[in-house]
Amino acid sequence: MSWIRETELSLLERLTANILKAGPMPRHVAFIMDGNRRYAEKRHVERQEGHTQGFDKLAETLRWCLNLGIHEVTVYAFSIENFKRSKEEVDGLMELARQKFGRVLMEHENLEKHGVCIRVLGDLTLLPLDLQQLIANAVVSTKAHNKCYLNVCFAYTSRHEIANAVKEMAWGVEQGFIKSSDVSEVLLSQCLYSSNSPNPDLLIRTSGEVRLSDFLLWQTSYSCLAFQSVLWPEYSFWNLCEAILQYQLSYRSLQKAQELHRKDEVRQQVEADRTCVAELLQHRGNGKPLDAQSQQTALLNYTARREERVQCFLGALQHKRDTFFSDLNSQTVVAKT
Ligand code: IPE
Ligand code: IPE
Ligand code: MG
Repeated sequence: MSWIRETELSLLERLTANILKAGPMPRHVAFIMDGNRRYAEKRHVERQEGHTQGFDKLAETLRWCLNLGIHEVTVYAFSIENFKRSKEEVDGLMELARQKFGRVLMEHENLEKHGVCIRVLGDLTLLPLDLQQLIANAVVSTKAHNKCYLNVCFAYTSRHEIANAVKEMAWGVEQGFIKSSDVSEVLLSQCLYSSNSPNPDLLIRTSGEVRLSDFLLWQTSYSCLAFQSVLWPEYSFWNLCEAILQYQLSYRSLQKAQELHRKDEVRQQVEADRTCVAELLQHRGNGKPLDAQSQQTALLNYTARREERVQCFLGALQHKRDTFFSDLNSQTVVAKT
């Protein structure tokens, strides 16, 4: 159950990869790895075996992604809703996660060779403490790697993530880092667990289900969505190529939509800053309206101060998150000595 399967592509696969790479390639691909239990049923094996093979498939998929020059992958491994499954199944999945995260230290050399940084996105406090510690080990020990990124969504749902981002902003206001008027779509994106990643270009869901099941709702508004009928443990290199082809076919319209959205975000921010400056000037108001030049200077000054507040807040937030992982990690180091 390694993190990366060390297999080379066949000649035909390499040829196909090269043809695909002549077109626009997604830089970040997200997977809803669905269909493990149906696979187990189809193959007449235990449900846990379906999940084990699902975890194995991740290692293979990562290798294909690296071969295709895709350097960021985000996977939905366990949702908060999945806690509602039978105790036996949840325990089995937690055990798999223990084995998988426990292997990171053993495989450190290989992960370092490929420069794989593992991040875990979700509400880790919902997990057993020993698993939280193993996860923290994995995150801290691969933190400096920067060639490719694997984001594992575990104890994750998008609504929980968005609600958490809103709470973080409320904390920022309470602590005096930011003002409530600094809250914006862009700031909310920066408070998500995924803040260190660009949005996925392509989201793939296997097993034929056509829904997002509360996965990356905020981040995939302008991504290409590919729904494939194959069950996750049976996912193949060719399935991945098919999804990439779908991405390439919709590339132009995606680019256009993303560009419009980016412009809209900038416009929203300028308008918000203008409103704040107008209010401030009115409060200070000595009756005389400012000329256009002074208004522009006031706006520039305000924007610079807001950006400073936001940077300071984001720094504090990152520190809080880093401390969460490093504290958990040092607890295990202390326990082992
Ligand atoms: C996805 O496969 C893996 C997890 C949710 C952990 P499922 O377990 O949902 O399998 P199906 O969709 O019921 O076949
Ligand atoms: C989504 O799959 C979660 C993961 C793949 C981890 P589910 O199988 O849990 O989603 P629903 O219940 O079909 O929506
Ligand atoms: Mg499912």
